[in-house]
Amino acid sequence: MCACLFACLLVKRNLILIGKLFLLVMLHTVAPDIWTMDGESIRFFGIPFPLRMTIVRLPDQRLWLHSPVRPSKEQLAALQVLGSTAFLVAPNAFHHLYIGHWQEHFPEAQIWGVSKLKQKRPELHFSGILDETAETPWQPHIEQIYFRGSAILPEMMFWHRSTKTLILTDYIQNHDTGNDGWFWRRLKRIIGVEGPQGGVPLDLRLSVWHRRAARDSLQQLMQWDFERIIIAHGNCIEGNGREYLQKAFEWLQ
Ligand SMILES: [Fe+2]
Repeated sequence: MCACLFACLLVKRNLILIGKLFLLVMLHTVAPDIWTMDGESIRFFGIPFPLRMTIVRLPDQRLWLHSPVRPSKEQLAALQVLGSTAFLVAPNAFHHLYIGHWQEHFPEAQIWGVSKLKQKRPELHFSGILDETAETPWQPHIEQIYFRGSAILPEMMFWHRSTKTLILTDYIQNHDTGNDGWFWRRLKRIIGVEGPQGGVPLDLRLSVWHRRAARDSLQQLMQWDFERIIIAHGNCIEGNGREYLQKAFEWLQ
């Protein structure tokens, strides 16, 4: 009887372990306490875009979700294995589409977003606005800079201090065009986002009318000690992130 009970407990324990491992496979481990999760690709002005969200676990086990993608049931379950979803972050006026989906499942999670989203998403309750003066609950573990200068898309950029990781959304794109057709490959090259040396998309570059403000923001970014850059569209930059960033912003000098 005892042996039978022991065997059942062992099987149950292993099943739980296998379940957890399966869920964690859905996440890409970047470094201790940072993961990324890929979402469904979208099309922006017809151009195919892969999407990525970033998850950071704070020392108190709360999870910080940057640029959330549309969640599947399995992805929602995977997050519960990691910790308690506490913050949903919309870093610019474009990356907000799935915030509400996550909040439905994690109603206690706080939503933080840039000011334009207050008008764009009036149905959402924002716990805080991301701008130059924002003081956020995730500092000092994750630091932030409001990248100014663009008439269209100011963006809050983040730095995970302990892993020397810069977390950007639209300002660096680095598309793997291997599976794209000739037309999209050509277009991404012209826009300046074809990997392995992607960069700031042409439309964003053209929207930077206040170049001095953008240069100041870049200068602040370069004061952070980072090696890796996580981005929302395309392949992340795993090393020499500072050099990569410098090159991507040469047009601003
Ligand atoms: Fe984007």
